Amino acid sequence: MVVMIIGAKGQLGTALCAAFQDTEVIKADRGGGHCTVDICDRKALFKCISEFRPEIVINTAAEHELRSCEAHPDQSFAVNASGAMWAAQACRETGARLVHISTDYVFGGDSRERNIPYCESDPPKPLNVYAASKLAGEYLVAAHCANHLIVRTAALYGLARCRGKGGRNFVETMLGLAATGQEVKVVNDEFTTPTYAASLAAQIRLLAERAEPGLYHATCGGACSWYEFAEAIFEELGVRVHLVPAKSLDFQSSVKRPTYTVLDNRHAREAGLDIMPDWREALKSYTAARRNAANATV
Ligand SMILES: NC(=O)c1ccc[n+]([C@@H]2O[C@H](COP(=O)([O-])OP(=O)(O)OC[C@H]3O[C@@H](n4cnc5c(N)ncnc54)[C@H](OP(=O)(O)O)[C@@H]3O)[C@@H](O)[C@H]2O)c1
Repeated sequence: MVVMIIGAKGQLGTALCAAFQDTEVIKADRGGGHCTVDICDRKALFKCISEFRPEIVINTAAEHELRSCEAHPDQSFAVNASGAMWAAQACRETGARLVHISTDYVFGGDSRERNIPYCESDPPKPLNVYAASKLAGEYLVAAHCANHLIVRTAALYGLARCRGKGGRNFVETMLGLAATGQEVKVVNDEFTTPTYAASLAAQIRLLAERAEPGLYHATCGGACSWYEFAEAIFEELGVRVHLVPAKSLDFQSSVKRPTYTVLDNRHAREAGLDIMPDWREALKSYTAARRNAANATV
């Protein structure tokens, strides 16, 4: 099987390369992979997909730094919406299956009052440019390639850093703050499900190989506030820190964010294909992998 990963150097792309390592993986990215491609360049993308003829294309490419998306909506839509559409058209023409990665941010957070995780049939309500552009990407993928899977995930962290967010992920940001020796303030009124990239990559592989086309939620199990996530990170890694709960209003931001984006992996579960671990269990796997990686470099 030939699998093409667009955004292969990213946080999820790196985990996907590992999850598919026993197959032929074509790394497509903006430099250094098997195929250099900017997803906004329709011609180059078509050339790349027609040349390598993958059976599965996984599109992880995204413009997802929230403030930058808000300031540059044209660029966000070019990557997250039009780029996704070019990928869908190229997959349709070559007969490939497209797995397109999307986000929990398509929801508006109103499910919080009910405290019920969002399932795939719940209506989206994007609150910012990033979310709107990702939702547009979902619609365009569905419209242009029947053989598609749209996989929404949330709060990713992995061994490879998140390139679109300046190389940071939440775990490393917390450890960096703790290292300053100062108190660390984290919001306890925004809820999500931290999702380990390696767990998600295994789930994506299973869905890519076995699932019917359609929309799938794929996050780890359970839910927590960002404060509880930080608490768990410090506990797992044995870091002593003065952690202080805060309110989202304490942090001034020009970008609107949903306060509750917990997802229910209902579609995959009902298909017997939900293999995502609980978020605490996944965090343990991540910290073990992180230790192994650190020992390997000593
Ligand atoms: N991170 C999260 O918390 C989170 C949460 C929910 C959903 N998601 C979704 O998950 C997916 C993967 O996220 P991630 O955390 O792995 O992000 P990441 O580390 O920033 O990886 C994204 C990759 O996309 C590539 N890319 C960006 N613009 C591109 C373009 N115009 N053409 C080709 N490649 C381009 C980047 O390439 P370069 O290497 O050249 O920069 C990078 O390798 C995204 O679709 C995101 O929307 C992420």
